[in-house]
Amino acid sequence: MAKQSIGILGAGKLGLALANIGARAGYEVLIASRKSAEALSLPVSILAPGAHPLSAAEVIAQSDTIILAIPLSKYRQLDPAAFKGKIVIDAMNYWWEVDGKDTLFSTIEATSSERVQQYFSDSQVVKAFNHMGYHDIQAVSSAGAAGSVKAIAIAGDQPSAVGKVAQIVEDFGFEPLLIGFLAKGIMLEPGSPLFGANETAEKLQGLVDIFAHSEKGQAFYGQRA
Ligand SMILES: NC(=O)c1ccc[n+]([C@@H]2O[C@H](COP(=O)([O-])OP(=O)(O)OC[C@H]3O[C@@H](n4cnc5c(N)ncnc54)[C@H](OP(=O)(O)O)[C@@H]3O)[C@@H](O)[C@H]2O)c1
Repeated sequence: MAKQSIGILGAGKLGLALANIGARAGYEVLIASRKSAEALSLPVSILAPGAHPLSAAEVIAQSDTIILAIPLSKYRQLDPAAFKGKIVIDAMNYWWEVDGKDTLFSTIEATSSERVQQYFSDSQVVKAFNHMGYHDIQAVSSAGAAGSVKAIAIAGDQPSAVGKVAQIVEDFGFEPLLIGFLAKGIMLEPGSPLFGANETAEKLQGLVDIFAHSEKGQAFYGQRA
């Protein structure tokens, strides 16, 4: 059977960790940053052996599913037309040290992934791989016995795209935890009890419930339920 392929834009801490576990899971991983494929070949060969460094344009053209692992303030540098018909996995978070304090990237009325969906209007955006640190993602292979498999929360509006991303999450070695529509991805962002979580699905669901009772959760559900 042909290998499933996945594209990753961003070859930093998160992109390389995902490329590493994706290649180990048997995926054909295509990865790019702003650097040339040649410049990426050494770090990729060491940190994500088996993944293929390409140009960003090649990764986008050759992938039906593309993980955005770039700073949130940079996605508007990408041409949305090139992503038409593709599934875009939004792994990005607002991080003021990187993204700056001048722009609002996420509000209860327009959460960051909804803004990403609005920008990539001809794509299906699913939020995943946001809450767990790259070092914990990278350590997935040592997750251990059944029952201690760690969960990745997923939010999205289109059930078929969410299902495909859930399969990728599972293939990569995690338990998918579906948390609902795309806007609910707000609970995966910095400042939420889920942010940073490296937990089983049961414990992650407990954090979803804690978010719901938090001040921000109450405000969110008050407006967006
Ligand atoms: N680090 C984590 O543990 C973690 C966990 C979950 C989510 N996230 C989120 O994942 C994203 C990436 O975080 P990171 O820690 O991996 O950052 P990072 O180490 O700084 O890497 C960022 C990568 O994005 C690339 N990039 C920037 N603009 C680009 C563009 N227009 N096209 C293609 N590639 C571009 C950079 O390429 P160049 O080097 O060529 O500029 C670099 O490879 C952020 O949104 C972050 O919030 C991070």
